[in-house]
Amino acid sequence: MKTNRLSEKLSAALNEQMTKEAHASQIYLSYAAWADNNGFSGIANFLFRHAAEERNHMMKILEYILNRGAKAKVIAIPAPANDPISVNNCFEKVFKHEIDNTNSIYKVVKMALVEEDWATWNFLQWFVKEQIEEENLANYLMDKITLAGGENAKGDALYQLDKDLEKTSGEVKLAQDATTTNP
Ligand code: FEO
Repeated sequence: MKTNRLSEKLSAALNEQMTKEAHASQIYLSYAAWADNNGFSGIANFLFRHAAEERNHMMKILEYILNRGAKAKVIAIPAPANDPISVNNCFEKVFKHEIDNTNSIYKVVKMALVEEDWATWNFLQWFVKEQIEEENLANYLMDKITLAGGENAKGDALYQLDKDLEKTSGEVKLAQDATTTNP
């Protein structure tokens, strides 16, 4: 049995974040199914891939909790909220969800800082950086749907958007990784 290196408070917060990432995966899965049901196979493909990414986030936290010798508790995942009513609404929901998740991660980062648990603080920096990427991606989706006409998007514009997203990578280049030779 390993020695527990996490405080009770941080362990609870990390467990909660782990479930939130699992919940995010279910949310993206439900949006992907909705998109596919409505004929948007490209958007569905993009969202299915993102659902898998969220599950990886959950695994990262689970593994960290275990590596620190604390108890990881896998609990029920809340059901995703209602299906989107349009592509525009779907992307708005994605955007809001990512902002909420960033705020939730920041709370755990602050907790680690207050406790001076530098190992956890350092671990969470990966998520801080990842959320910049996730927010960039959500912004990208909002820009795309706005260009296509927002809530009134239809016909060719939606068709093209759906095609584009089929192959759009979930990885976004971050400003802090840019150089003059590789802007
Ligand atoms: Fe795991 Fe979309 O944040």
